[in-house]
Amino acid sequence: MVKSSSLKSPKKEEVIDQTIETLLQPKGWDEYIGQAKVKKSLRIILEAARRRGEPVDHLLFYGQAGLGKTTLAKLVALEMGAPLRITSGPAIEKAGDLAAVLSHLEENEILFIDEAHRLNRIIEEVLYPAMESRKIHIIIGKGPGARTISLDLPAFTLVAATTRVNLLSAPLRSRFGATFKLDYYDEKDIEVIIKRSANILGVNIDPAATSVLARAARFTPRTANRLLKRTRDYLEVHGGEVITEETAQKTLGVLEIDSLGLESHDQIFLNTIIEKFNGGPVGVGTIAAALNEDKGIIEDVYEPYLMRLGFLRRTPAGRVVEKAAFQHLGKQPSQQLL
Ligand SMILES: Nc1ncnc2c1ncn2[C@@H]1O[C@H](COP(=O)(O)OP(=O)(O)O)[C@@H](O)[C@H]1O
Ligand SMILES: [Mg+2]
Repeated sequence: MVKSSSLKSPKKEEVIDQTIETLLQPKGWDEYIGQAKVKKSLRIILEAARRRGEPVDHLLFYGQAGLGKTTLAKLVALEMGAPLRITSGPAIEKAGDLAAVLSHLEENEILFIDEAHRLNRIIEEVLYPAMESRKIHIIIGKGPGARTISLDLPAFTLVAATTRVNLLSAPLRSRFGATFKLDYYDEKDIEVIIKRSANILGVNIDPAATSVLARAARFTPRTANRLLKRTRDYLEVHGGEVITEETAQKTLGVLEIDSLGLESHDQIFLNTIIEKFNGGPVGVGTIAAALNEDKGIIEDVYEPYLMRLGFLRRTPAGRVVEKAAFQHLGKQPSQQLL
């Protein structure tokens, strides 16, 4: 067993979850369900680079959490037969940290920086020349005696991922050779993912249960897998051979997730607009103040799923809760929507 030297050792369930996570992660393009457009254009870029015997252009993946950005980065490395080094924005605190990572890269290595929106400006500035001309400039010493030395880097590919692309600076964004947006999955694709995962976990699930879980999965593979795992736990504890519609529904009940995957924060968000602002239109800044939440978080984290559901609309006058949301929440729609 691997010993962990960290102060807070992970709980047993977390370790098990991690292991399952590795099992469920797609190991090839065929197993990477959906996202057909992204897959197609990415594979052309990879194939062309391989034929030319060059490293791939720097790539940026963005989209909501759990849509498959990290998985995609791993597939890129796999397809290129290149080593992969994984780090993240918050892990790189100082310019020196990044310089250390970059100067230890192997030829053609893929450097994956997750949560790239959390790289600070000084670090971004180290990254620019590295991305453009495979150089880093390191300042040695302080004050008038300080001097800059330049180091040449091996050919490498930067793959960056972010859930909040608007927070990336324009100069950084413009240095990627290709940018891919991962969108929400179709419900059908989520069903395929659930069936595949059930298969890997060796658990039987009937079609009605698959569609209950798919509908509650927020069109997101990670959520789908999480719901499946919790449903499997429920079956384990309560006994039974097959995950049925009832097992699925009871599990959602325990998790306090409704049939469309709304959690309490989603309900509070919608109910606030409905009750305090008569369903809107109301400016996002006003909603943020009412919820005591960051405006950017509301835009990047709360709203996308609700918009995808057709529960929320952005208008020039502000946010409007749609009729479908009133109906789902069992409320009387506001006059202007009738
Ligand atoms: N296209 C896909 N097909 C099947 N499973 C997927 C797909 N994308 C993601 N997953 C599953 O969802 C999990 C979360 O994906 P991940 O790549 O970690 O998302 P992100 O990095 O965007 O937050 C993965 O471990 C994998 O099991
Ligand atoms: Mg990730």
